[in-house]
Amino acid sequence: MLPKNLEHRLQQAVSAVLPDANTDSVLVRPCPDPKFGDYQSNALMALAKERKMNPRQLAIDVVAKLDVSEWCEKVEIAGAGFLNFRLKPGAIAGALQEAAKMKDPFVQKAVKPRTVVVDFSGPNIAKPMHVGHIRSTILGDSLARILRLLGHKVITDNHIGDWGTQFGKLLVGWKNHLDRTALEKDPISEMERLYKLVNSACETDEKVLESARQELVKLQNGDGENLAIWREMIALSETQFARVYGRLGIKFDHTFGESFYNPRLKTVVQELRDKGIAQESEGAICVFSDGSLPPQKDPLLKQEDGKSKPNPCLIQKSDGAANYATTDLATLAYRLETWQPDDIAYVTDGRQQLHFSQIFSIFKRWHPEAKTKLAHVWFGSILGEDGKPFKTRSGDTIKLEDLLDEAQERAFKVVQEKTTGLPESQQREIARVVGLGAIKYADLSPNRQSDYVFSWDKMLALQGNTAPYLLYAYTRIRSIFRKLGEEASTAPVNFLLAAPDEITLAKHLLNFGLTLEAVAEDYRPNFLCTYLFELAGHFARFYENCPVLKSEGPERASRLALCDLTGRVMKQGLEMLGIETTEQM
Ligand code: ARG
Repeated sequence: MLPKNLEHRLQQAVSAVLPDANTDSVLVRPCPDPKFGDYQSNALMALAKERKMNPRQLAIDVVAKLDVSEWCEKVEIAGAGFLNFRLKPGAIAGALQEAAKMKDPFVQKAVKPRTVVVDFSGPNIAKPMHVGHIRSTILGDSLARILRLLGHKVITDNHIGDWGTQFGKLLVGWKNHLDRTALEKDPISEMERLYKLVNSACETDEKVLESARQELVKLQNGDGENLAIWREMIALSETQFARVYGRLGIKFDHTFGESFYNPRLKTVVQELRDKGIAQESEGAICVFSDGSLPPQKDPLLKQEDGKSKPNPCLIQKSDGAANYATTDLATLAYRLETWQPDDIAYVTDGRQQLHFSQIFSIFKRWHPEAKTKLAHVWFGSILGEDGKPFKTRSGDTIKLEDLLDEAQERAFKVVQEKTTGLPESQQREIARVVGLGAIKYADLSPNRQSDYVFSWDKMLALQGNTAPYLLYAYTRIRSIFRKLGEEASTAPVNFLLAAPDEITLAKHLLNFGLTLEAVAEDYRPNFLCTYLFELAGHFARFYENCPVLKSEGPERASRLALCDLTGRVMKQGLEMLGIETTEQM
């Protein structure tokens, strides 16, 4: 199917000219400027460079072996060796025809499916999920959906923080200050209160700090009472997390928390010592740089006053306790053993960049044979309208459930104005879809590495690059078919593409699959957001300039089918962002 078959043909032609070349990186991508054509490939330049060949000559040789005449005008060689493809109108219509019959139009399954572990969300027990966790949850879920649709084997794992030093303080709080009634009403808030209380007491009272230490040691040594309390804290937190996940429509294949790896931590430390990767330093066990990377790029070194200094990764504290790094190394070993993944993507905020680059570099030394690609899919912060980290007015972390409630409430006001004729229950349901969609879209549409300002007015606006705009565009398409009623037919039609606006829309539809591939390649769902925003724009121009219901015969059937395909792609695209659709708005 177009445009994938251009890529296949090009790969074949490259193989004919360069039999030993790995053609996986020979890709065809939409032309950024339609002046030059519909698709382009810049892959030949890299291949020529590797082989110290003249790129233009390579392009000439490849084009001589390349036959795409059934879909394209003559392939043009531009600049230093770009190939430009321009589709023939008949080929576009043919591709739409084919897509209309598919369950997932314009999506082509990966030829070489990969096994990908997506590690996302990862909230911490006894603490509220904060906006950073929601961003990880939304990004990770969207990536998992897209990878699955492309035919990859995806394993999602919620690496919850259910172990660590905070439990010492929590146990002291639980045993001495627990308010059962408050716990029943809002468990996480009560646990957070206990933690804060003991934490501040520890700052002034050495005795409290010591008792927190003792409680932690007892828990780590398997004390029955402490284990039971710890389990209760987990159960209470998980109920609350589950409510948020349920509302957001998010599922995980596994929720192996940090504690799952406890039995493996000692072995990991031992193995790293045996292999000479880790060593003792002032009673602790650390991994130092082995000098194999350029100092500027070595996460186990830091640059200070123009000099490289050691920046070791601690994997066992001097009191013998393991830490976040130890757990992540054990987790990595477990995943490797259990799933032999091709890729592992960790979706967390940017503040964990050093942690993951250290883990990844230790992993390379520990398992030099492993082919698994590790990616830290990091994202920027969410800021309040004052440009500071997003908090409540009193400076507390914003509770996720309150945020979701507010989104639905605010969306209800928008929906009420738009849908005056509908009963309130239906308006509430539409507001749910719009409100949750708005939150998700605001998280997904900016480049994930930039900070963004959380603004209700912006994310709920009916104009602009927002979920309400896209959802509304979708309902406009659906309303065409509602008007048609009985008359709406699903019989195959011939696409007649003549008007410039319908050709533009059709060509944009063809790029849906490539867009998903680009998202998967770079772990960037914002590419899909941009695509859908543009799709809505192309559809609006088409609908304004090309009569649909008022046209006749084969032209009417073709335009209706184009509307239908646009609606299907919009719905599936939103679904890949984790956003539900509504038929009316
Ligand atoms: N619990 C961590 C946090 O709140 C996120 C876990 C991310 N995943 C991992 N394998 N470290 O920051």
